[in-house]
Amino acid sequence: MGNDLQKVLLTEDEILARIQEMATDIWRDYEGKDLLLVGVLKGAILVMADLMRALPGTAPMDWMAISSYGSGTKSSGVVRIIKDLDTDITDRHVLIVEDIIDSGLTLSWLIKNLESRQPASLSVCTLLRKPDAVTVDVPVRYVGFDIPNEFVVGYGLDYAERYRDLPFIGTLDPAVYS
Ligand code: IMP
Ligand code: MG
Repeated sequence: MGNDLQKVLLTEDEILARIQEMATDIWRDYEGKDLLLVGVLKGAILVMADLMRALPGTAPMDWMAISSYGSGTKSSGVVRIIKDLDTDITDRHVLIVEDIIDSGLTLSWLIKNLESRQPASLSVCTLLRKPDAVTVDVPVRYVGFDIPNEFVVGYGLDYAERYRDLPFIGTLDPAVYS
């Protein structure tokens, strides 16, 4: 596991099994609708890859890259678009695919931004959710796992661009970032 990680929080098998369940739920709700999956770079790349393959049918994807200004590791909710969608989402059913929601500030900005483009509907799917996210008014329709308030890496999630390639999700030893 390496010395930087404290423990494995979710194994690869647990992650993939839960994504399969979420894909079944999503297809039940969207089958026959013009669904567009919108991923948020870069953390959501692995969630998107496994979720779209787990869906019982085909749905196109698009991506946004955003950066949130903040001091240190906390996001401020002040967001800048680095890469916008290629697609016009007007009248389409948009499902935002996220890796993790912490404060929820980035996501609430993104929801306001996408709502202004008049999609037919807008919902959120996230693999992980931390406790603070529950206190913010962000409607999240599909949640993989509610996790404790610890910094996690792996399965797309990074610390300083490292650990994204781990197939599981683990907690980082606080000594690494303190
Ligand atoms: P929020 O605006 O605080 O909800 O920020 C969410 C973003 O912060 C996520 O999309 C991640 O990029 C990053 N993030 C939050 N918590 C973690 C974590 O535990 N590990 C890795 N990245 C995290
Ligand atoms: Mg992210």
